[in-house]
Amino acid sequence: MTTPAVERSLVLIKPDALRRGLLGEILGRFERKGLVIEALELRTMDAALADQHYAEHVDKAFYPPLKEFMTSGPLAALVLSGDEVIAVVREMIGSTDGRKAAAGTIRGDLSLSNRENLVHASDGADSAKRELALWFPKL
Ligand code: TYD
Ligand code: MG
Repeated sequence: MTTPAVERSLVLIKPDALRRGLLGEILGRFERKGLVIEALELRTMDAALADQHYAEHVDKAFYPPLKEFMTSGPLAALVLSGDEVIAVVREMIGSTDGRKAAAGTIRGDLSLSNRENLVHASDGADSAKRELALWFPKL
């Protein structure tokens, strides 16, 4: 058995999920997987936080409607931890476009959109570090 590599990931359960009553369904998947919820808060993103969180995307054509969507209502911000949690959660959420994401993934099972795709998750060690500092500076 290899030594566990316990990591943390910043996960957002987006406003579409809360509007659609899917918070429990999505949280339940992470819990059943065995991931640990280290922090969980309902937050509403403001414009400044959106620009920081999506710094890599602010100049893209899809950013204005993405920002509008992400600031449109409450979301659940989570810190999840577990063995290789960053890759595990990315696998669980599926590819970006809900229409193309594999069945069995959160986006594949529950989203039909390339924008309103229910979940954000850090995509690597560097982004996890940056996003955790942004959302949960005291943790
Ligand atoms: P991205 O970082 O490429 O995807 P992921 O969330 O899988 O890491 O894009 C960030 C978010 O931007 C994505 O979750 C949904 C939105 N988005 C669009 O609205 N249109 C697009 O064409 C793309 C690529 C993303
Ligand atoms: Mg991304």
